[in-house]
Amino acid sequence: MIEITDLNYNLGNKSILQDINLHITPGEFVAIIGPNGAGKSTLIKLLIGLLDLQSGQIRIEGLPHQEWLHRHGFGYLPQREEYDRSFPATALDIVLLGRVGHSRPGLRFSSRDRALALEAMRDTGVEALAKRRIGALSGGEFQRVLLARAICTGSSILILDEPEASIDRPGVESFFELLAKLNKAGKTIITISHDLHTLSNYCSFLVCLNRNLHCHTRTELLQAEHISKTFGEAVHLIEKGY
Ligand SMILES: Nc1ncnc2c1ncn2[C@@H]1O[C@H](COP(=O)(O)OP(=O)(O)O)[C@@H](O)[C@H]1O
Ligand SMILES: [Mg+2]
Repeated sequence: MIEITDLNYNLGNKSILQDINLHITPGEFVAIIGPNGAGKSTLIKLLIGLLDLQSGQIRIEGLPHQEWLHRHGFGYLPQREEYDRSFPATALDIVLLGRVGHSRPGLRFSSRDRALALEAMRDTGVEALAKRRIGALSGGEFQRVLLARAICTGSSILILDEPEASIDRPGVESFFELLAKLNKAGKTIITISHDLHTLSNYCSFLVCLNRNLHCHTRTELLQAEHISKTFGEAVHLIEKGY
């Protein structure tokens, strides 16, 4: 169980997140939606400890989140802009970074680390690209490499920030299929996304965020008025008759 309680976050005198209370049960496939600048990435960065809490608390399985994350690690796929792909690394190098917390001092990976990295690459369909420079991968291939890195951390929680951003439409469907498979295998998935159509097929829990939570509700309750409140303007949902 992830429990976020009375969380507020400011930058200077600007309120970024306000009175966030959220409970996520294990095994859930959670989607966070909201307009640009809504605080989605900030919420995730607070959750994984990349940003320090200012007020409120986050507990995972009863432990302060920093302590839980230190013990169990987390799989994280950052927002696209946060990556420099001109860096001369291979796909396998990037996936192996998921093993950092487990490796021996001095970043020497064991043969088990390599085996787990390659297994994760097989699961995400990019094993054949292991030796390729990351700069030579397509957007979709690179996202699968980052997902493999998140998987091979071994964490039960995978957190993704707009993973569909650089993937073409058929690629998005198969990427979410892959996430659904991981979810069925027991991983809790938390993803920020703009792709309401795809999300409605896969996620079990929807969080609408725009500085504060307007609603968090089951996908079946995905309704235009909730979404409109979050985005601050009328939204017309035309797919699939909702
Ligand atoms: N490092 C930063 N410095 C100044 N403002 C920031 C910084 N990071 C985020 N912000 C601001 O915080 C707000 C929320 O950002 P973010 O969490 O990235 O939103 P989202 O992911 O929903 O688009 C935005 O108004 C953004 O401009
Ligand atoms: Mg963001």
